[in-house]
Amino acid sequence: MVKHILIINGPNLNLLGTRQPEVYGHDTLETIEAACAELASQLGLEVDFRQSNNEGEIVDWIQESRTSHAGLIINAGAYTHTSVAILDALLAVDSPVIEVHLSNIYQRDEFRQNSYVSKAALGVICGLGAHGYELALEALARHLGSAPGAGKGSN
Ligand code: DQA
Repeated sequence: MVKHILIINGPNLNLLGTRQPEVYGHDTLETIEAACAELASQLGLEVDFRQSNNEGEIVDWIQESRTSHAGLIINAGAYTHTSVAILDALLAVDSPVIEVHLSNIYQRDEFRQNSYVSKAALGVICGLGAHGYELALEALARHLGSAPGAGKGSN
């Protein structure tokens, strides 16, 4: 059976391609979605790719994923560094969570070096641009394949 993966993008990521391309690259969110969909089909996965500028909507999507998705990839944008609500929602999810950032947040402003999301993440990929999403999908595919149904407690 095909496993469904939810990919959540947070605030301002709808502007990718035109927003600070020297930091975030020239890929648009549409390009990244297409690359993820193609790779997912090769991996026997199906992706549900979303973006929101609203914290509450992201919390709703994370809660929803508890019953509908086998894994979650999240680039929470600036909410990464501020949102206890997103962290709490992620902690309520049993399926694996992978955190992605286009930029290397550890080379940037000090306030970007704290991630609430990391506290709930199986792994973190940052600094590799759009390719990070594909690496996250590969990691999830391997994790789900080798440990079906594995939850946070098993790591
Ligand atoms: C980001 C890094 C965050 O600090 C920033 O607020 C973003 C994008 C990234 O993908 O590099 O919006 O998550």
